[in-house]
Amino acid sequence: MRTDSFRGRDFITLLEWSKEEVETILDVALDLKRRFALGEPHDHILRAKTLFMIFYNQSLRTRNSFEAGMTQLGGHAHYLDPGKIYTPALPGKEVAYSTERVSDVARVLSRMGHGIAIRCYGDPVDWVYGGANELIRNFAYWADIPVLNMEDDKYHPFQALADTLTVYEKFGTFKGVRFVMSWAYSPSVHKPRAVPQSAIIAATKMGMDVTLAHPPEMELDPEVIQACQNYAKVNGSSFRIVHDFEEAAKGAHVLYPKAWAPVQMFKPPVGEDNPKLAQEIFDRYKDWKATPEYMALADPEAIYMHCLPADRSWEVEDAVIDNTDPKSGWRSVVYDEAENRLHVQKAVMSLVMR
Ligand code: CP
Repeated sequence: MRTDSFRGRDFITLLEWSKEEVETILDVALDLKRRFALGEPHDHILRAKTLFMIFYNQSLRTRNSFEAGMTQLGGHAHYLDPGKIYTPALPGKEVAYSTERVSDVARVLSRMGHGIAIRCYGDPVDWVYGGANELIRNFAYWADIPVLNMEDDKYHPFQALADTLTVYEKFGTFKGVRFVMSWAYSPSVHKPRAVPQSAIIAATKMGMDVTLAHPPEMELDPEVIQACQNYAKVNGSSFRIVHDFEEAAKGAHVLYPKAWAPVQMFKPPVGEDNPKLAQEIFDRYKDWKATPEYMALADPEAIYMHCLPADRSWEVEDAVIDNTDPKSGWRSVVYDEAENRLHVQKAVMSLVMR
């Protein structure tokens, strides 16, 4: 366990945290989860501290788990709607009396509280891939207090931590766990890559045997893929990419099918700024759906995962996500994942904001 390296650090991507540090976070999260279950007060940990939460996008899980988490730790979380403050903006994106430069927002909030958490992806940055990550990194550059990424256009590290904790709880190990992150169909192409990218970063970092399954057009960031290959090599585990939905599922312990945008959705130079083409590509793959028959291809003890919200009847059938197939051995663990958001976020906040 490594505890000396946390205080004051930003939490933007798991690429910047070692395997040992992630193990520490999971250990602290399990301790806080046990205390929460027993009703043991732990409100001394961040007593009277403040987290400022800026949401450029909607949220159910992230907002409420951070807000509840800060309350349980003895502090408070402020919800900030960018449209109701002066929208924090980077130089070149400013509008008089409607926006405020990020460097000013970050330095003002640093004088008043103990952490800044931000969610931003997609429309607020006009689908410029990496634009939201740049915004969050600019906050981190100017802020004197930790900056937490509540999902940008590249990473969703708290979701990945919650997913990782859930896998550990179900299997008791990472070694030998066959983890499949798969694309699945949704009628909406407005889906960032953050969840699948952070999921495969975390799974390879912790030593699982990882399969990434997607139609050829739905490739992920090459830098993320390279990092996953490196982690698998270091761990002596495996990482592979396949383009066959059912083939990928065979024998899996973890199936995590969800939609993400094809590269055509993003602005050049990464993409083509062509949502119409992105939609046409999506519609070619309507059969990439989690059904009981799909789940039956996996290991009999397999788990179905989804970060939620799920596009029910497109990404997944109710019988899978609700676990209502009486003959199945596999389990849906989506609410465990959602609950674990609370515990891992409390762990990270306790470690970096203390
Ligand atoms: N999984 C997740 O981040 O959920 P919300 O969009 O509801 O925050």
